[in-house]
Amino acid sequence: MRIEMPREIERFGAVRLGGLQKVFELDSGLKKNPSPEQGSAIQQIPYEALYEIEKEMAIVVPVRNERLKLVEGVLCGIPHQCLTIVVSNSPRAPVDRFSMEKDALENFCQFVDKHAIIAHQKDPLLARAFDEVKYKSILTSRGEIRDGKAEGMIIGTVLAWLAGKKYIGFVDSDNYFPGSVEEYVREYAAGFFMSRSRYSMVRIVWHSKPKIAESKLFFRKWGRTSSNTNRFLNKLLSHYHGFETELIKTGNAGEHAMTIDLARVLDYSAGYSIEPYHIINLIEKFGGINESPFPEVMREGAEVYQIESRNPHLHDSGDEDHIKDMSYVAMQVIYHSSVCPEELKKEILKEMAHHRYLPRGERPPRPNRFPALASINAEAFLEEVESTEYGRLIGEGRL
Ligand code: GDD
Ligand code: MG
Repeated sequence: MRIEMPREIERFGAVRLGGLQKVFELDSGLKKNPSPEQGSAIQQIPYEALYEIEKEMAIVVPVRNERLKLVEGVLCGIPHQCLTIVVSNSPRAPVDRFSMEKDALENFCQFVDKHAIIAHQKDPLLARAFDEVKYKSILTSRGEIRDGKAEGMIIGTVLAWLAGKKYIGFVDSDNYFPGSVEEYVREYAAGFFMSRSRYSMVRIVWHSKPKIAESKLFFRKWGRTSSNTNRFLNKLLSHYHGFETELIKTGNAGEHAMTIDLARVLDYSAGYSIEPYHIINLIEKFGGINESPFPEVMREGAEVYQIESRNPHLHDSGDEDHIKDMSYVAMQVIYHSSVCPEELKKEILKEMAHHRYLPRGERPPRPNRFPALASINAEAFLEEVESTEYGRLIGEGRL
């Protein structure tokens, strides 16, 4: 891959946030000159280097009731050397959608000769494992794992960690272009190649989203939700720096990856608020405003890379209510952050009232939060899921 270095970097305590990076070549060949050419702002990352990183990466695919053809396409876009982890919250009755997904994955794995993990979000064994390691916030009062994309991602992260992976990436399962899935994974690896810290994150900005407008294909760049979330996150940065910035372009990046070391020290937030909360929590924990519970991260620093993909992104876009909901929960997590200044809170309330997300004068409730996974005893968790197929494969070190 040939990719530009971040042109701008904003430092926030121990957090380095990089500006948007453009990809010049998706495949720039074999090893030639892995370090940036002198005086060049563009870096060639040889194919072998990406391959080595991908070998240590798990790709988590959250699924809830998607068309099987789409999920199969996503599986085929994940490079062979990555561990695939499907976390499904699809219904099991009246039709057992999960067992159809499981069949499709097993069939796929047989053809491509690899092992993969598939788990159901409502598997009582998983719920028991979380209970056992005292990670109770993910459970409902009935002891089931909660619904939600973030909740599925947490399961995937724990499984990737148990399988000994160094990196974890997420790709949605409703993606129509397998080629774009492959590209996201390569870009995750490129970000990790460039990073100098064990605590790094890579976030993708879609190049465009094709839409039909006036019977023509139109490639839209920014959706309403992302523009709104980015605007508020940038206002937060601007408040502390005293300089207006537009650096954040990935407030809602569903396609993102982290080192497992970073994934274990960040807190999580429910459902679709997870992505903006990553940025917020990085600033809360490592931005130098509050005392950090992880001094080792303060010493080493955390890095965020934002990469612009080349493929258009086509997925099953949700209805108006779903889009409003994503915008609302993003504002909720910014509003409730300990680092959110009063003026920004007021602006958020105004925006919420303007869109009638909330009656004037009311405050939004705080979305559910889940503490960092670092407190989990991995061995105890594994013991609980030992009887599953993936538990056995992990136990035997075969993934
Ligand atoms: N395991 C699991 N559990 N997966 C879920 C759940 C759940 O409860 N809910 C949704 N998913 C899966 C979906 O099947 C899909 O693969 C993925 O999570 C994203 O859900 P969508 O409903 O398709 O989200 P979206 O397309 O509106 O939004 C996506 O892009 C946004 C950026 O524009 C998501 O990735 C958002 O998180 C992201 O902010
Ligand atoms: Mg979608």
